[in-house]
This record gives sequence, structure tokens and C-alpha cells, in this order.
Amino acid sequence: MRCAWLTVLVLLLAGIHPCLRALLAKRFPVAPGAVLVTGASSGIGLHAAVALSAEVVVFAGVRSEKDAARLKQSYPQLRPVVLDVTSTEKVEAARKEVSAALGAEELKLVGLVNNAGISRHLIFEYENLEEVMKLYDVNVFGVYRVTQAFLPLLRASGAGRVVNVGSISPTTPAMGYTSYAGSKNALESINDVMRLELARYNISVSLLKPGMVHSALHEKISGENAAWRRAKDLEGFREHWGEWAEGFEERRRNREAHADGAEVTTEAIRHALRSEHPETRYVVANVHGIPCQALSWLMWLLPDRGKDLLLAGN
Ligand SMILES: NC(=O)c1ccc[n+]([C@@H]2O[C@H](COP(=O)([O-])OP(=O)(O)OC[C@H]3O[C@@H](n4cnc5c(N)ncnc54)[C@H](OP(=O)(O)O)[C@@H]3O)[C@@H](O)[C@H]2O)c1
Repeated sequence: MRCAWLTVLVLLLAGIHPCLRALLAKRFPVAPGAVLVTGASSGIGLHAAVALSAEVVVFAGVRSEKDAARLKQSYPQLRPVVLDVTSTEKVEAARKEVSAALGAEELKLVGLVNNAGISRHLIFEYENLEEVMKLYDVNVFGVYRVTQAFLPLLRASGAGRVVNVGSISPTTPAMGYTSYAGSKNALESINDVMRLELARYNISVSLLKPGMVHSALHEKISGENAAWRRAKDLEGFREHWGEWAEGFEERRRNREAHADGAEVTTEAIRHALRSEHPETRYVVANVHGIPCQALSWLMWLLPDRGKDLLLAGN
């Protein structure tokens, strides 16, 4: 009987949520201008930057002059800007460069996509704090540096938008994900507060939560230098976590086999930047072939012990 009532309640809530969302949808101005995409040297950022350049001027943030030259050569429509999100000086230099270009062409900055990110995977007990801090420096503090620096330009445009590229990983955590999922969870909270605070300037803030998307990120976490590979000689690791490490690559490949193309993230980023009614959250792509939207609902429904059963072998 209790179960039946619970089912009715869940179904009611499931129906109410989309109705409320549609009712409360907020309208934001859409203006011509320019957007800045961080981490645009490859993957999700590059795909989005190229697609967006059909509609707006795109400043493509890359870490090296070499990547800037490569992008200029392959995608002449992009405006590469050297921007390492971990360096306050480089962020400031990029802000000056973008600001000068905007001024010279009488353009306004109407969008910022905080996409730059790195990943690492290791069991919590063996994590290297210095390396974890480096990850947070990119995935979390980088968002502070870049957004704080470019906010005056976004505000001045009267039609600013921010898109933060999070991840489904805080919703579906797996063993070895404390650092990555933790950083993306932090970003999710930062995003939600940022949305509240920037509403007074009429700046829309959206979070993108992708599942698996084809990109260079997956190779980067499995190369020779991967944290989980380097840990094998640490005391006790092989004994307790050898099996986990041995299966890591296969689990990663299984997940990647179902990965979506970056079109799904680009479509969400484009909507968040250019629609009159941007969503606050875009949950896209899949994990193990299960759409992330469905996974989010399932995780919301399941008690923690149920989640643990489901995610233990992930
Ligand atoms: N692919 C997925 O399945 C997936 C799923 C969920 C979320 N995401 C998120 O999506 C975003 C893009 O990742 P991706 O999958 O497209 O991987 P990617 O191809 O490896 O792209 C990551 C980008 O971030 C840049 N980056 C790294 N450190 C940086 C720094 N200090 N300053 C500026 N840029 C830096 C990289 O530049 P370099 O080339 O110079 O290293 C690269 O351009 C990340 O935030 C990632 O966490 C990806």
C-alpha cells in the first residue's frame, strides 16, 4: 500500500516538474556579438566553437601558441586566444586581447563557455593531493578566474550568457572518481549560485552535464602517465585494488564504445547561448548506452544503498 502511494507520488512529481519548468521558463535577450570558449583545442570545446562560428564571432581559448596556429590554419573563421585557465596573468592577458578586439570591431561579448577541463582517476586512499589540487585548479578555480575576468564584458553587452561544462559524474559516481566527480560537483554548486547572482544583470547561466562524449579526454586518462597506472607500485595498492586497476581500461573502453558524438553537447551549448529561453541544465549523452536523463531520474529515485549496488561495478 505504501509502495503504491509512493508510486503515485513519484508519477505526480514526474508530471509536475516539466509543467512547472515550462511555466517558469525565463526569457533572456539574444544579441549578435562574440563568445569565448575555453579549452577549444579539441573535443567538446573545438566542436562547439566551430559550430557557433556560423552565428557569432568565436574566441577560441587554447593553451599554446602552437594550438593557436593550428586552429588559425584549420579553422580560419575562429579567433584563437592563448588562455591557460590556471594562470591569472594569462587570463588577464586574454581579457585584454579580447576586449581590444571587441572594441576595434564594435562587438559585444554575449557568451562565455567554461569548457576547459581535465580528468584523473584513482582510489581516494591513494590520491596525490598535489595532483588533485592541479585538477581543481583547472576544473574549479579556472572557472572563477575566467568568469570573474570576463564578467564586466558580459554585463556590458546587456545579453550575456555563461555555460559551465560539468559532467554526469556527480550523479553517477564510480570508484576512482573522487577527484573528477568532486570537482564537477563543486562546479555544479558554483553554477547554481552563479545563476542566482547573475540574474540581476540578466545574465543567463546554464550547466551542461554530459555523459560519455567522444573526445581526447578518454585517451588522456588511460595513457602511460595515468594516475591509476602509476599507483600500481604503491604499498598495498596491488593487494586491495589490483583487480580494479586491471579492469579500468576495459570498463573505460566499454563506456566509450557507447559515447555520443560532440554534436549533442554542441546543440546544448548553442541552445544555452542562443535560445530566448535557455535551460538551466542540459543533461545529454549516455553512460553504458543509458541516456543520462534516465540515469538522473533513476538516481533521484534510488536510496543510497541502491545506488551503491548499481554503481559498484562501474
Ligand atoms: N568527453 C566526455 O565524455 C565528457 C563528459 C563529461 C564532461 N566532459 C567535460 O567536457 C569538457 C571538455 O572535455 P573534452 O571531453 O572535450 O576533452 P578534451 O578534448 O581533452 O578537451 C579539454 C580541453 O581543456 C583544455 N585544458 C586543459 N587544461 C587547461 C588549462 N589549464 N587551461 C585551458 N585549457 C585547458 C585542453 O587543452 P589542451 O589540449 O592544451 O590540453 C582541451 O582543449 C571538460 O570540462 C570535461 O570535463 C567531458
